[in-house]
Amino acid sequence: MNKFILVTGGAGYIGSHTVVALEQQGFTSVIVDDFRNANPIVLEGLRHILGHDPILHRLDVCDQAGLTELFEQYAFEGVIHFAAYKAVGESVDKPLAYYRNNLLGLINILALIAQFQVPNFVFSSSCTVYGEPVGAKEVSELTPKQLPESPYGYTKWMGEQIIADFHKSSPALKLMNLRYFNPVGAHQSARIGEFPIGKPNNLLPFVTQTAIGKQAQLTVFGNDYPTRDGSCIRDYIHVMDLAEAHVAALSFLANQKSGLLEAVNIGTGAGTSVLEIVNAFERITGLTLPYVIGPRRAGDVIEIYANATKGKEMLGWKARLSIEDAIKDAWAWENHLATL
Ligand code: UD1
Repeated sequence: MNKFILVTGGAGYIGSHTVVALEQQGFTSVIVDDFRNANPIVLEGLRHILGHDPILHRLDVCDQAGLTELFEQYAFEGVIHFAAYKAVGESVDKPLAYYRNNLLGLINILALIAQFQVPNFVFSSSCTVYGEPVGAKEVSELTPKQLPESPYGYTKWMGEQIIADFHKSSPALKLMNLRYFNPVGAHQSARIGEFPIGKPNNLLPFVTQTAIGKQAQLTVFGNDYPTRDGSCIRDYIHVMDLAEAHVAALSFLANQKSGLLEAVNIGTGAGTSVLEIVNAFERITGLTLPYVIGPRRAGDVIEIYANATKGKEMLGWKARLSIEDAIKDAWAWENHLATL
C-alpha cells in the first residue's frame, strides 16, 4: 500500500530533495506547489532521479478548498510543510505578504490535519528562532528562543507558537518542528538544486554564481566581527542530509503511540566562517573567487551553530556529508544550470 506524504513546497529547494529522500525510504510524495518560487525544471530533475514523474498538484497552500479536495483524495500518512516565503530582506519590504502566505498556509494545513486526523506533521522551522545567541554560540533545543529580527523570522517563531497551541487542542497528533541551520549543496546527480530568483541572498549560491560569471564579485559582509577570522559563522548543512532528517522525523513520529510536539535542530554541530567557505571553494575548485570585504549586513547573527545531539538521540539522524561535499555538489549544480 502506498504511504502518501503531502509535501507542500515540494518543488522548492529543500522540498525537492526531500521528495527524493522520501522515495528512497518507500514513501510516495504528493507535491503541492504553485511554482511561484520554484522552477519547473525541477520536475525534469526529479523525473531523472526517481525514474518517473512525481505526483504534483499545482496549488496554493492558501487555497483551502483546493487543499480540502486533496485531503479527500489521498489518505495521507503525514504532511511536511515547506511552502513559505524565505527571504529575510524581502520580508522587511513585504511583511503582509509574508504573514499572509506563511501563516495562512500553515493554519490551513493544520486545520485539515485535524479535520482528516492525519497523524504526523513536520514543520520547516529555522534556527532564526534563537536570534543572536547570548553566551554560548552552540544552541540546543532548550536554548531559550528570542524575538526575531525580521518578519520572515517572526513567521517561523509564530508558526511554532501556532503549532504549540494547536498541539494543546489536538493532543493526539504527532508534530515536529525541524529547526534548520543553513542548507547548502545539491543532489549528487546535479539534476536538482537551488534556483535563486534574481540576485541570490544566500552565501553559497552567490559564491557559485560569482565563480561562473553571473555575478561580478562576492561581498563578504564584514570581517570585523568577534570571530576567529572576523567573518560570521554558521552551521552549513548539506541539503541531502537535511532531506534525510525529514524522513527520519516522519519515521520517528509514525512509531510514537501517543501525540507529541517536539523541536529538533538540524545542523552539523560545527560552525564555518564566511571566509572559510570562500577558501574551501577556491581549494576545491582550483578557481580564484573575486571578492571584496564590505560592511556588515543589517540583522546578521554573528555566530551560531547547532547542538545536534537531540537529532541523533531522538531521530537516529546525523549529518553524513561535509561542507566540502556541499561545495562540490553546489558547484556541479551551477555548472549543470549553465548547460540548460
Ligand atoms: C538566515 C537565517 C536562516 C534563514 C535564512 C533564509 C540566521 C542565523 N539564519 O540565514 O535561519 O533560513 O536567512 O534565507 O538568522 N554572506 C556574505 N555575502 C553574501 C551573502 C551572505 O558575506 O553575499 C554571509 C552572511 O553575512 C552570513 C553568511 O554569509 O554571515 C550566511 O548568509 P545567508 O546565506 O544569507 O544565511 P543566513 O543569513 O545565515
